[in-house]
Amino acid sequence: MKLSVIYDSRTGNTEAAAEAIAEGMREVEGTEVRTFHMKEVDTAFVRESTGVVFGTPTYVAGPTADFYSWFEKDSKELGLAGKLGGAFATGQYIHGGEDIAINTILIHLMVKGMMTYSGGAACGKPVIHLGPVAISPDKEGFRDLFRIYGKRFAEQAAKIRV
Ligand SMILES: Cc1cc2nc3c(=O)[nH]c(=O)nc-3n(C[C@H](O)[C@H](O)[C@H](O)COP(=O)(O)O)c2cc1C
Repeated sequence: MKLSVIYDSRTGNTEAAAEAIAEGMREVEGTEVRTFHMKEVDTAFVRESTGVVFGTPTYVAGPTADFYSWFEKDSKELGLAGKLGGAFATGQYIHGGEDIAINTILIHLMVKGMMTYSGGAACGKPVIHLGPVAISPDKEGFRDLFRIYGKRFAEQAAKIRV
């Protein structure tokens, strides 16, 4: 099973979170994972992926304008409909709008016809509501949260793999 993680990142925090998610995904046997900055996506690999997770820095309490623009214009070739989708965000402040950024992405994914996954409270601790969030000054402290989310996402994707 292939899984992709696609992110925007200017100063590296969201990229580091994407790598931690990928590390967790690789804990599920038989999973091939690649991470891509949104400007360097391997379209063929994403098209073959069972699931795709998207990440953004929080800018003005939402996804970055670059992410919005990329999603509108450049995600059309990725064949997202029917795949499992998830979202994550990094931000500088608690209540800085990270949940809004994630929610916005999840809505985009639903419009594309993806099935969305958060892990949710059903998985127990760490409880992940809409998707994992890192407050960037302490990104190392959040690493495990992202790794666990990645593992949960891959376990779920394995269940729907055709
Ligand atoms: C233009 C701009 C707007 C930002 N707006 C917010 C915000 O509304 N809320 C917040 O918590 N952090 C905000 N930040 C901080 C970034 O979300 C945070 O540093 C993030 O981890 C950067 O991710 P990156 O290192 O992957 O680029 C903003 C940063 C910039 C440059």
